[in-house]
Amino acid sequence: MVDLRSGEWLDDNRANWDDRVPVHVASEMYDRGVLRSGGSQLDPIAAAGIARLFPDGLEGKRVLHLQCHFGSDSLSLVNLGATVVGIDFSEPAIEEARRMAAELGVADRARFIQANLYDARHMLPEPESFDLVFTTWGTIGWLPDVSEWAGIVAWFLKPGAPLYFADGHPTAWMFDYEGEPSPDAGLPRVRFPYSVEGPDVLEDPSDYADSAVAIAHARTWEWTHPLSETMRALRDAGLRIEEFEEHFRLPWRIFPAVVPLGDGMYGWPDTKWIPLGVELVARSSR
Ligand SMILES: C[S@@+](CC[C@H](N)C(=O)[O-])C[C@H]1O[C@@H](n2cnc3c(N)ncnc32)[C@H](O)[C@@H]1O
Repeated sequence: MVDLRSGEWLDDNRANWDDRVPVHVASEMYDRGVLRSGGSQLDPIAAAGIARLFPDGLEGKRVLHLQCHFGSDSLSLVNLGATVVGIDFSEPAIEEARRMAAELGVADRARFIQANLYDARHMLPEPESFDLVFTTWGTIGWLPDVSEWAGIVAWFLKPGAPLYFADGHPTAWMFDYEGEPSPDAGLPRVRFPYSVEGPDVLEDPSDYADSAVAIAHARTWEWTHPLSETMRALRDAGLRIEEFEEHFRLPWRIFPAVVPLGDGMYGWPDTKWIPLGVELVARSSR
């Protein structure tokens, strides 16, 4: 049983993400030009998902963004009209998110909290106060316990309000993602089991946003959660799965073998070998 509030897993992962922040801030992938001109940088999958959920827009909506990184998606949601609270455990990420909110002049509608996700209820004692919980692309794989995660999501949602979730497909996480990006790199090899007790503890100094960089704190603790486990956790927390989709594209180069599709998305060049992304909406049934 992992201690969710402290331990080596948390210290290693936080140090790793702290190192990535300046790399990502300087990267082309995280360029914030669109944000600065008042737009949204949500990837096409999340942008369409939010538009489906809120056809009249986000004006006046309160959004909780879990694992918000340095706030690009949070501030995109603000630019779409929402008031957002973002939570992330990385101090440099939260500092940059606050700095950017101030630069954009939207600090009154964007609050950023530095906290381990599992401390969220203590840091933000506002149950049933959000119209949307939003979390995307690189989320539960960093978390040891999806049941506790789902409980936290449910605790924050207003009755009847949705969770919007999009992430790498757990099938895709089974494959090796190392190697130089190249269209003829071949298919990735199976490296990790689909279901395993405990974490994969990895030593990997590479970063997905900048292949030239070596991250100093290279050790990470990651968990593959089978889809059934995630869906069961959400259901047990009192959420009803309303939408579920598998995608053959996602907004980063997960394997050398996937190719740019435009709009910041990557996918298979021809045959759809395995799904790359998963998207779901689960609604509080209280
Ligand atoms: C891949 S990034 C998410 C990216 C996000 N979609 C964005 O806006 O670019 C993963 C984030 O999870 C955060 N994180 C990882 N484990 C966490 C934890 N236990 N509590 C809070 N944040 C965590 C990291 O600091 C990082 O910002």
